[in-house]
Amino acid sequence: MDKILFVCLGNICRSPMAETVMKKIVETEKENFEIDSCGLISYHQGEMPDSRMISAAMKSGYRLSHRARKITDNDFSYYDLIIGMDKSNVEKLRQLAGKNRQKIRLVSEFFDGSTGYDCVPDPYYGSTEDFFTVIKLLENACGNLYKYLKNNEL
Ligand code: 4NP
Repeated sequence: MDKILFVCLGNICRSPMAETVMKKIVETEKENFEIDSCGLISYHQGEMPDSRMISAAMKSGYRLSHRARKITDNDFSYYDLIIGMDKSNVEKLRQLAGKNRQKIRLVSEFFDGSTGYDCVPDPYYGSTEDFFTVIKLLENACGNLYKYLKNNEL
């Protein structure tokens, strides 16, 4: 089984969306993957995703049910792949990871050339449109990530 953890700052916008997009791909393909998400801060611990993310997700055919949690030391040993949403997330993850640094990836490594983005930008202080951009980018990344996982042993 491959175990994948998506990470953003608050775990209420981007990473729960990433988790949900990836779970939908994996369910459709009937694969046995373990997928979760978490944040780098505990500020939103226990909360449902941001209402703007829930709304954009629903309009795009996804239902978000994750409760926010902060990353733990155990996550770095347990998960096979730890995917940060932007460069700042990845820098922080690398500081925390110790000997598991090689498990950390930036989500844009899985974008194809068409997106024009180098990360999934933080939508928290953004517009409604920015939440739909998050979904579009994550659908691109997760589709390619799934192909990568099918073709490569982690
Ligand atoms: P996320 O968005 O990292 O995609 O969940 C944010 C959520 C909360 C905050 C920042 C970004 N915050 O500062 O509380």
